[in-house]
Amino acid sequence: MNDSAFPKQPRIDARDKVRGAALYAADQALPGMLHAALAVSTINRGAVRSIDTRAAREVGGVRLVLTHADMGEYKPAGHVLGGGFAFQSMQPMLESGIAYRGQPIALVVADTLEAALEAAWLIRAKYDEQPFQVTLDAPARDIVPQQGSPLPQQMFADKVAGDADAAYAGAAHKIDAEYLHPPQHQNPIELVSTVAEWRKGTLVIHEGTQNSGAIRHGLARQLNLDPARIEVISPQCGGGFGLKNSLQMQTLFAAVAARRLGQPVKLVVPRSQLFHDASFRPASRHHILLGADASGKILAAIHEADQQTSRHDLFPASYADMSARLYGIPNFRGRERLVRTDVQTPGYMRAPFEHPASFAFESAIDELAQQLSIDPVELRLRNDTQTDALSGKPLSSRFMAECLREGARRFGWSRRDARPASMKAADGAAIGWGVACGAYKAATSPAIARIAATRDGRILFTVAGHEMGQGMRTAIANVLVRRLRVDPQALVIQIGDTRGAPQHLTAGSWGTASVVPAAEEAAQALLDALAQLAPGHDPVLRPAEVLALAQRERIEAEVRRKAPGQPDAVYGRLEGGMPAPAGPVYPEFVSMSYAVHFVEVNVEPVTRRIRVPRVVSMIDCGRVVSPVTADSQVRGGVVWGIGAALREISEVDPRYGGFLNADLAEYVLPVHADIGHIDVGFIDRPDPLLNASGVKGLGEVAMVGVAAAIANAVHHATGKRIRRLPIRIEDVL
Ligand code: MOS
Repeated sequence: MNDSAFPKQPRIDARDKVRGAALYAADQALPGMLHAALAVSTINRGAVRSIDTRAAREVGGVRLVLTHADMGEYKPAGHVLGGGFAFQSMQPMLESGIAYRGQPIALVVADTLEAALEAAWLIRAKYDEQPFQVTLDAPARDIVPQQGSPLPQQMFADKVAGDADAAYAGAAHKIDAEYLHPPQHQNPIELVSTVAEWRKGTLVIHEGTQNSGAIRHGLARQLNLDPARIEVISPQCGGGFGLKNSLQMQTLFAAVAARRLGQPVKLVVPRSQLFHDASFRPASRHHILLGADASGKILAAIHEADQQTSRHDLFPASYADMSARLYGIPNFRGRERLVRTDVQTPGYMRAPFEHPASFAFESAIDELAQQLSIDPVELRLRNDTQTDALSGKPLSSRFMAECLREGARRFGWSRRDARPASMKAADGAAIGWGVACGAYKAATSPAIARIAATRDGRILFTVAGHEMGQGMRTAIANVLVRRLRVDPQALVIQIGDTRGAPQHLTAGSWGTASVVPAAEEAAQALLDALAQLAPGHDPVLRPAEVLALAQRERIEAEVRRKAPGQPDAVYGRLEGGMPAPAGPVYPEFVSMSYAVHFVEVNVEPVTRRIRVPRVVSMIDCGRVVSPVTADSQVRGGVVWGIGAALREISEVDPRYGGFLNADLAEYVLPVHADIGHIDVGFIDRPDPLLNASGVKGLGEVAMVGVAAAIANAVHHATGKRIRRLPIRIEDVL
């Protein structure tokens, strides 16, 4: 491996993206293509008694109207966390039951989008309604696990090190506080969209996804088809953030309509329906207890979390893992429970558990620092570790202390006056400086990669992976260009496409740490094969020159690699479209990525509006393979953290169900004017154990800790400790 830092190459697809040449699923305009739209339930729980579709059928250009009564016999694809492929176990429109407001009840297909939308508006249903609950603290709470429940107990096993309750009871200094995180929706710019076409008995799906394998194998189950007769093509995905990690409900509708009508069908789920037609970040409540001695050594931590799930699925929570692993706390107990609510099944949204957990836990750490009168950076350094507190195994690499020290230096932390509400700007705004840390598991997925060199100078490379804007193609290209000394324009990188290597889930920040080592190995395998082809050739020759010498058109190689400790059977899972990630606990070590965020907030004197003029983020993600996209990834994570801390909430009302602010006018996000200076720094030291490339994950850890740093800064600015997100003007009046 070449140990020098990777150069700042631009995105390999940057020019295509800015010129509109990068094609997304809904950009497909196929000959004869029809347009589909959905009508959705206006009640939150019950059943459809009758649907009147007459007016819809009379709209000019309408070709097909389907409801549960005439949809046909299709199987659900199963929940992705229960051996299936879909984001929830319930596929709408197979039965009359309504599990949440916004659930599709009818599909309209028409010659034009306008006709489809008009017809969908004209569909009227009569319902039998049932009572429901949509909040964590509804009066009739249905909490899982319950005593004597038959559920798999390991799903709810406490996470334990030492004896936290005894150590807490005996501690001289204590924090006992509860924090609340709201439901949120991720809102990728590219809506959930499917274009389905049947080509001579083969179903071709164009869809932006993180998991083209799940779409193939999930549809195969739903349609009772051989997976080999389904191709899923997803060269670009306009943001996934966890929402596009499995089979969505609209894909079946588009496939069925295209088959019935014998023409391609496009179905774009509009933003307002996306709030109910795909997963979201569930509400969660966190009870944190910390016990410490006067020197700031934390002796005990307890993290008890309740998280919302749906009535029909258990979306498992794992908040306590991050809290347990962030510091060297000898006594820890984590407990997670689920609260059933009448919503679609929630799912993974960027840093799904680590972000809410760090908001709670890192706020509590700040409260402890204040109680002990110890600087919050210093308190964290005193609890640093090189050993995983939960398993006792060594950490593969951890530079969190370096992140704290370097971040403090860049930020100017030593000039901070520790007293709350003590620092003022020239315009009278209260200044607050806050810090918080984050950790995220360094997971890796096994990979099957194929590489080929052709006489005309191209390098073809395919592996399981999806380009969702994070820069996966660029990371692969950087490795191949360095190893093979070819021009980036000579690379053809086929990802997200079931016609190439077997596809499975890209998520959990394992993308780069999985495909980059595979690309390095594949490049080496290709070089070895070329050396065999033309023994003694000049090693500075490029692959195409060696092929010319040997008078060959093409040479290929395949590599298979898996995470430390994984059995060979994992490759079978990949072929079946199932993910098989490993980590953070490996046989010999535990591997985590780390982030430290320093934040300044200004609270304006009259309006009490909270601004974030600057952020310093220091990241330990192992080796940085693609500096340009890594930098963007962290900026994106920081913006997400600002959104979570100060803006984002999916509003629910127990009287109506569903999510009330289901569009970008009312689901408030940070805009450019809300973002100040973001200084991103990387430790950029390769992890020695996780893989030969030294890469850990980045996409999610970038966000972890930002919201807590902002909440801590708000406390520093105002003296008010806000334990519920988002923090609003009325909280700091
Ligand atoms: Mo990510 S939230 O694991 O797609």
